[in-house]
Amino acid sequence: MCGIVGYIGSRDAWPVVLNGLKRLEYRGYDSAGIAIINNAGFNVYKKTGKVACLEAHTADKDKSGHIAIGHTRWATHGAPSDANSHPHSSNDNRLHIIHNGIIENYLILKEELLARGHTFKSETDTEVLIHLIEEIQNIEQTDLLEAVRLALNTVIGAYAIVIMDRGNPDQLIAARKGSPLVIGVGQGEYFIASDATPIIEYTKNVVYLKDNEIVLVKPDALLIKKLDNVVQTPLIQELELKLESLEKGGFEHFMMKEIFEQPRSIRDCMRGRIFPLEGKVELGGIKQYTDKLKNAERIIIIACGTSWHAGLTGEYLIEEYGRIKVEVEYASEFRYRNPIITDKDIVMAVSQSGETADTLAAIEIAKERGATILGICNVVGASIPRVTDAGVYTHAGPEIGVASTKAFTAQVTVLTLIALYIAQHKGTLTPAKLGSLLTELDTIPDKIQTLLQDNDLIEDIASKIKNAPNCLFLGRGFGFPVALEGALKLKEISYIHAEGYPAAEMKHGPIALIDEQMPVIFIATKNSSYEKVISNIQEVKARKGIVIAIVTQGDIKVKNMADYCIEIPDADEAFLPLLATVPLQLLSYHIAVKRGCNVDQPRNLAKSVTVE
Ligand code: F6R
Repeated sequence: MCGIVGYIGSRDAWPVVLNGLKRLEYRGYDSAGIAIINNAGFNVYKKTGKVACLEAHTADKDKSGHIAIGHTRWATHGAPSDANSHPHSSNDNRLHIIHNGIIENYLILKEELLARGHTFKSETDTEVLIHLIEEIQNIEQTDLLEAVRLALNTVIGAYAIVIMDRGNPDQLIAARKGSPLVIGVGQGEYFIASDATPIIEYTKNVVYLKDNEIVLVKPDALLIKKLDNVVQTPLIQELELKLESLEKGGFEHFMMKEIFEQPRSIRDCMRGRIFPLEGKVELGGIKQYTDKLKNAERIIIIACGTSWHAGLTGEYLIEEYGRIKVEVEYASEFRYRNPIITDKDIVMAVSQSGETADTLAAIEIAKERGATILGICNVVGASIPRVTDAGVYTHAGPEIGVASTKAFTAQVTVLTLIALYIAQHKGTLTPAKLGSLLTELDTIPDKIQTLLQDNDLIEDIASKIKNAPNCLFLGRGFGFPVALEGALKLKEISYIHAEGYPAAEMKHGPIALIDEQMPVIFIATKNSSYEKVISNIQEVKARKGIVIAIVTQGDIKVKNMADYCIEIPDADEAFLPLLATVPLQLLSYHIAVKRGCNVDQPRNLAKSVTVE
C-alpha cells in the first residue's frame, strides 16, 4: 500500500522523487522520506505526516543529487513515526531501501541479525531486510545484485523494493513479488515507481516488472533477472495514461472531480461495446469464453469493499438477465475457507486497482481448482489482469481519491454489460427487450449529468445532517447494494458510523436505533419494491427518524413523508445502482468536507490494499 519512487539520471533527483511521492500519496500517507546521494555524501530525510510535511521539513536542507529513492508510507509494522519511516539503512549506513509489502519472517531474521551484532533503529520489517542484504553481502563477498537476490530467496512475504548503495552511486536495484513496480525508461535515465503516475511526465516507455524479478538500472543500462538468476529480456511498453487525468482540473478535491467525471467514464466504459440498434453487446476481452459463460451453472464473484458492492449488483443483474446462479464472496473470506470450486465454475474478480492482495490470493485458489478466471479491473496492466484468463477493463481512468466513486459505477456498467452479453448469447432476453435495455443504458450518462445539477441541494441536505453520530442507509432489490455503498462512502470519508441494510431487515434489529437524531437514507425510487419501501419509511417516521429519500423525478408520495428528497431521473430498475449511487457519493462528500475531513485521503485508509 505504500508508494515508492526511485530516480537515476542527469536531472535533479529531488523534484522528480518528491513530485512522484505526491502522485503516489493515495497509496499511504502516514509518513514520507527520501534518501539522496550527491558528490559531498548522502542525505536521508524522513518525516511523520504527509509528503507536504517532508517538503516543509527539508525546505532549507541540501537536496542536491542525481540519484534518489523516496517513500510514502501506510504503516504495517510499527506506528507512523520518523524512525519507522522509509528509507531504512543498513548497519553501516551504506545501503538504503524503500519497501512496499510485508516481510512475514522478519522476526526470526531479526533475532539472527541481532545475535550477529546488528542494531536496529525502527520496528519495521523493512529495516531487517536491508540488514539481511548487508549481512549476506559481507559473508558471501558478492556484488549487491547477487546479495539482494540471495536475500530475497530467504524472505517470505510480499515486496516491491528499491535499494540505493552509497558505495555505488551509479546504480539502483529493485525487485518485486506481490507488490507492483514499474520501470520508466528515459534517455540515459530510469525511473522506478509503484505505478506509472510519477513517470508519465518524463517518459511513456515503461517495463512492468513481474513477480520474482530483480532489476539493476544504471543511467545507460537495464538488467532484469529472475530470482533463480536467469536473465530476462525487458518488454518495453508504451503508456496510455494522460497527465491531465492525474490533475484536479479545477475541482477542490479529486473525489469531487471523479464524481463529476462519471457521465464521461461510463460512456468510455460502454464505448464500442454496445450496439442498441442491433440489440448487441460486444465484449472482445471475454469473447473466447462466450460458450463457457453461456453454459456456466454458477458464477462466483470475488472482490473487496466497494468492488464487492459492485459484485452484489452483478449478482442481481446476471441472475435477472442471464439466469445463471451467482455467488458473491469477500475475497478475504473465500481465500481462507475451503471453497467448493470446480472447472465448471467461472470466477469473476472485481478490482479497481488490480492489486488487492486478498483478491489476488482468492484468484490463485480458484485457479488451482480449475475455475475459469475473468477479471473486471480498472488499472491496465495491473497484477489481476495479468493472472486472469481473460477480462474486461472498466476504462474509468485513474482514480486518485481514496474513496472509490467512478470506478464503482464503471464496474457496475461492466457487470451490466456482462449480464446482457450472457442474455444475448443464451437467448434469455428477446432481441427487442435487449435492444430497448441497451438503448436505455446508452442514456444513463446523460441522466447522471442531469442529476449532478442537484449538487447544491445535496450540499444543503448535508449541512442539516453533518453532525449526526450515526446514519442508516436502506434499500431493497437493486437499492440494497446502493445502500451498502452509500454507507461505506459516508463512514470512510466523514467518520460517521453508518450501516447499510436491506430495508425489510430494519425491523429485525436496526429499528431499535431510530430516534429523532437518526438520519435514515432510503433508496425509494419507483420500482417493484416502491410500496414496500414506503411502508418502511412510515415505520421510521413513526419513530421520529429523519428521512432522506432518493426518489424518482416527479414523485409525490414519498415527498409527502420524507424530510428531504433528492430526485433522480426515471430508468429501468436494473440501472438504479448507476443513478442512485451518485447523489449518495455527493452527500458523503459534502458531509465530510463540512466536518473538516480530508476527503481524498481519509485517515487510516489507502487506495491500493496490497497487504492482507
Ligand atoms: C472504498 C474502497 C475500497 C476498495 C477495496 C477494494 O471506497 O475504495 O473499499 O473498493 O479496497 O479495492 P480494489 O477495487 O482496488 O480491489
